[in-house]
Amino acid sequence: MSSFLQGLEWRHATKAFDSNRKVSSDDLGHVLTAIRMAPTSFGLQPFRVDVIASADVKADIAPLAWHQKQITTSSHLLVFSARTNAKGRIDQYFSELSGNDAAKRAGLKDYEAMMHGALDARTPDQLFAWASKQAYIALGFGLAACAELKIDSCPMEGFGPAELDKLLKFDSDTRSVALLALGYRDPAVASMPKFRFPEADLFHNR
Ligand SMILES: Cc1cc2nc3c(=O)[nH]c(=O)nc-3n(C[C@H](O)[C@H](O)[C@H](O)COP(=O)(O)O)c2cc1C
Repeated sequence: MSSFLQGLEWRHATKAFDSNRKVSSDDLGHVLTAIRMAPTSFGLQPFRVDVIASADVKADIAPLAWHQKQITTSSHLLVFSARTNAKGRIDQYFSELSGNDAAKRAGLKDYEAMMHGALDARTPDQLFAWASKQAYIALGFGLAACAELKIDSCPMEGFGPAELDKLLKFDSDTRSVALLALGYRDPAVASMPKFRFPEADLFHNR
């Protein structure tokens, strides 16, 4: 079996971490790079990730997530948030891509207009759904990178996003959607047996 698949078999949604063990900055950097390299719609990466190492901030978040132990025992807690200001993101994308060079940007104007055409008419709810999906793809890349490095992790939706947005002082265009707790499993806490539906349930050859 490939080491990638072995990593996926090894990983599980870790319910409690050994709070004495920290993920090194090199390993954390590897996970963040995987998140950054995830493909996104139009390449706009309409999400942000807050990387929380502070025990105090984690303690403030815990009550907003039903005191799930993953929060306070993690080495790092990543907060994935959707960015819903698509127009602003398109503008930011093209100024970065052109290096703020007006002539280069003019050469990209059809591409820029195409993105506006695809996204400008969407409602705030549609933009939130769209940006959230991109954040979840990146979350998946982060989970896979953790598995490869034998870093334990737990993806989490069990928290109050509105309360968390307030705590983290997000502007109205930024809405948290998922957490990824990282660390090393507490060996005293048993994991759930791995369950997956059979291949025939998921995959349909035609
Ligand atoms: C989007 C998402 C949200 C989840 N939220 C939570 C959560 O809030 N708390 C938790 O303990 N597990 C959470 N999980 C973990 C799942 O329950 C777990 O991945 C699933 O049961 C499969 O088990 P495994 O990851 O150990 O293979 C979440 C997983 C995903 C992908």
